[in-house]
Amino acid sequence: MLEIRGLTVRYGQAVAVTDVSLEVNKGEWVALIGPNGAGKTSTIKAVLGLVSHEGHIVLEGEVLDGLPAWARQSRGLGYVPEGRRLFAEMSVEENLRVGAYRVPERRVRENLSRIYEMFPVVGEKRRRPAKNLSGGEQQLVALGRALMSDPRYLLVDEASLGLMPLNVEAVFQALAAIHRQGSAILLVEQNAHKALEHAERACVLEVGRLQFSGSSEEIRNDPRVIESYLG
Ligand SMILES: Nc1ncnc2c1ncn2[C@@H]1O[C@H](COP(=O)(O)OP(=O)(O)O)[C@@H](O)[C@H]1O
Ligand SMILES: [Mg+2]
Repeated sequence: MLEIRGLTVRYGQAVAVTDVSLEVNKGEWVALIGPNGAGKTSTIKAVLGLVSHEGHIVLEGEVLDGLPAWARQSRGLGYVPEGRRLFAEMSVEENLRVGAYRVPERRVRENLSRIYEMFPVVGEKRRRPAKNLSGGEQQLVALGRALMSDPRYLLVDEASLGLMPLNVEAVFQALAAIHRQGSAILLVEQNAHKALEHAERACVLEVGRLQFSGSSEEIRNDPRVIESYLG
């Protein structure tokens, strides 16, 4: 289990996240939804050790507070940042290898084959510069890069933002495939409808506070959530 306990994130005087507690069980898919500026990105960055925080991050019983990002990754956390952050001039395969920090070469090759099997279009284009791929294909590369370190918990920030509907669907199918292989997912999504279709549970953040959480079914049908922004 990945536990976030009493998380508070500040940027100087500004408080972005206030006392948020939530958990992701082994193999579970949880959506973290809420309007712009709600503190979703700050929450996952705190889990990954990319911003300092108060409260505790606990992974399968081990307290991660104070550990650098690479150490958290080597303990089983994977990260797909908003906007993908690929190296545009580097090939697709080189971009995938960026995610394999401290992974033995043999495992790197196995993971590359696994990713090319899961996302054939990425395999076909593995020698091309990342910038030549469509937005949806680049998102698959960013997902693949995170998979290179065999994460048991994958944290994904805005996987579908700015993509065309067909590509949004492809990215959600990719996430579903990753989930079927046993990875837990904490997915931050603007597209709440789509996220609630796939995730098992959801947490709703508003101005840095956890407002609602429950099964996706409950959240989808909660009049308060619908009124605030599901429309
Ligand atoms: N680096 C930063 N410095 C100062 N304020 C920030 C920084 N990053 C985010 N914030 C603020 O923290 C709040 C939460 O932002 P964020 O976590 O990015 O929310 P979300 O991902 O839900 O849109 C917002 O008010 C935002 O302006
Ligand atoms: Mg964000």
